[in-house]
Amino acid sequence: MRKYTDSELKAFGLTPDRIPKHVAIVMDGNGRWATAKGLPRAAGHRAGMNTVKEIIRFSSDLGVESLTLYAFSTENRKRPKDEISILCGLLIEYFNREIEEMHRNGVRVKGIGDLSWFPTAVQETVRNAEIKTAGNTGLKVNLALNYGGRAELVRAMRLAFAQDDEPDEDAIFRNLYTAESGDVDLLIRTGGDERVSNFLLWQIAYAELYFTDVRWPDFTREELLKAFRDFAGRERRFGGLKSNGAK
Ligand code: IPE
Ligand code: IPE
Ligand code: MG
Repeated sequence: MRKYTDSELKAFGLTPDRIPKHVAIVMDGNGRWATAKGLPRAAGHRAGMNTVKEIIRFSSDLGVESLTLYAFSTENRKRPKDEISILCGLLIEYFNREIEEMHRNGVRVKGIGDLSWFPTAVQETVRNAEIKTAGNTGLKVNLALNYGGRAELVRAMRLAFAQDDEPDEDAIFRNLYTAESGDVDLLIRTGGDERVSNFLLWQIAYAELYFTDVRWPDFTREELLKAFRDFAGRERRFGGLKSNGAK
């Protein structure tokens, strides 16, 4: 639900009709943020939680329709058990603390990925948030948890083949976790690395990519505005020619 008027958006340097509808973020750099400060990695994950709150809030206020956040990849299962359990604890804490405000703001939460791998407490937390916010019509927040783009595609293709002997692209698309959010318009990765790390492989086919060295705990509202301004200046051709018809 957009909070800002067109002229307020213009004051942010944004073109109102060029706000990305579906934004995906690889929230990377928590560990390095902490290490650089002489803190344990967990401190970086905790600080990153505050960024999540700010960015959800601001995206909603700016009128973004869907925000897909990479919180835990299938490959992250390789991490030490104690780091994984700290992440699980933070996730539960986050929902306990923030779900009311998200709900008030009309946010609709969805967990994407194979959540069955997580302890029941995590599964229940996400499930309860989904149920509570299911009727909301504001920002869709897809939280990727034990998510892998390849695993999602295998799942989508199996489902599509079960429905139809010769599924087409649209049939596969409809079976992705993010079907309701559509293709990604803008993919942001914080933390300095320029790679996709198995995130939303199908959905980013024509996404604009934005990489920043800023580590996730330092990714402020102003940093999101920078990414959106950059996006607004891109010419998206989708394989066609310039939209103004110039040769
Ligand atoms: C991203 O931060 C959060 C998760 C992958 C859970 P990292 O934990 O990957 O932080 P770096 O990349 O080691 O700095
Ligand atoms: C990507 O970050 C996954 C998440 C942010 C959840 P990683 O830290 O796992 O990615 P790599 O290992 O650097 O590619
Ligand atoms: Mg990382």
